Amino acid sequence: MDLENLFRDILKNYSAYEPGEQPEEDGWIKLHTNENAFPPIPEVIKDIKDAIQEGDLIRKYPDSLGLEVRKAILNQLLRDKDTLTNRNTVFIGNGSDEILDVIFKVFINSGDEVVMFYPTYGLYKVIATLYDAKISEIKLNEDFTPPESIFNQKGKLMLINSPNNPNGKSFNNDVILKICNTFSGIVVVDEAYAEFSDYTCLSLLKKVNNLIVIRSFSKGFSLASLRIGYALADATIIKEMNNVKLPYNTNIIGQIAALSSIKHRVKIYEQNKKIVEERKILTEKLENFNGISVEPSDANFIFVKFDDKSTTLKFLWDLKDLKILVKHFSKPGLYNYLRITIGTKEENERFFKAFSDIAAKYL
Ligand SMILES: Cc1ncc(COP(=O)(O)O)c(C=O)c1O
Repeated sequence: MDLENLFRDILKNYSAYEPGEQPEEDGWIKLHTNENAFPPIPEVIKDIKDAIQEGDLIRKYPDSLGLEVRKAILNQLLRDKDTLTNRNTVFIGNGSDEILDVIFKVFINSGDEVVMFYPTYGLYKVIATLYDAKISEIKLNEDFTPPESIFNQKGKLMLINSPNNPNGKSFNNDVILKICNTFSGIVVVDEAYAEFSDYTCLSLLKKVNNLIVIRSFSKGFSLASLRIGYALADATIIKEMNNVKLPYNTNIIGQIAALSSIKHRVKIYEQNKKIVEERKILTEKLENFNGISVEPSDANFIFVKFDDKSTTLKFLWDLKDLKILVKHFSKPGLYNYLRITIGTKEENERFFKAFSDIAAKYL
């Protein structure tokens, strides 16, 4: 039997999302997947260990709706933020990636128009393709600000990533509010990197009902592997998201780790401050080289532009030879850039030394 013939038509021209390389041997510096530079703090690790030892917790299904986590998100994590307060306005998912998928499940019929920016997080296009959406890409300006045309868009969903991966710039709230008021459908703002930024659009949720804000425990709370993300939106939307999600989408260890991270958030935020300081230090040091420039970033990564495209690849490969991974996108308009995740002080220093040695050859 020709098995491929049985696949959905949509898969004929489908390119899967390519997850970042995870080298198995020691000695690599991973500055290509925007993970948090630090492991979870000891208090969170202890709560995870205790939970694993509690065999009964593992034996049983977790709370399907993650009520404890939802309550803690609203009553503790976002307590000081000017945003929604009813627990029916928060959803938890298996990372923000799953939340994106659930949003498509709720809103997208085959052929519906989904508006997204270029460049942005690659998974948006992959999911839109899987749901057979019509994709409209709006090219960001040269400095990664949105063009005026964003206020004349029609469609079912608009996906905004703020700060935007790969360049790191946030969208300002006036722009997001104006989009919500002019767009014909749902506006999703993915704030996966919010913990490294001074900006958030959470307060807009009280002003418009067509906005969904997605956040993650992967980056700002170092829990990428445990897969917990959350979304805030009007209760009508959250209810439907809970109706269509798979029953046990988040696991108990992830839920406990998220609860513990919320409890110890002040200490975690202090740790994140080091990443923000290191972002500033590395940006300033790199700006001193001729032939490159660094985009301003609100996230835990920076986007470095090389005047010369061929130099960009030489840096990529020479860094890899020195066991340092950074991210290059082989896509129009992005060939001259490398995205570099901010590591620990030691990692950034090793990166900078390697970068300087390579620069002596090519810049
Ligand atoms: C913009 C953006 N959104 C979402 C994610 C995925 O987050 P999560 O681990 O919560 O699924 C990433 C991961 O790199 C990202 O860059």
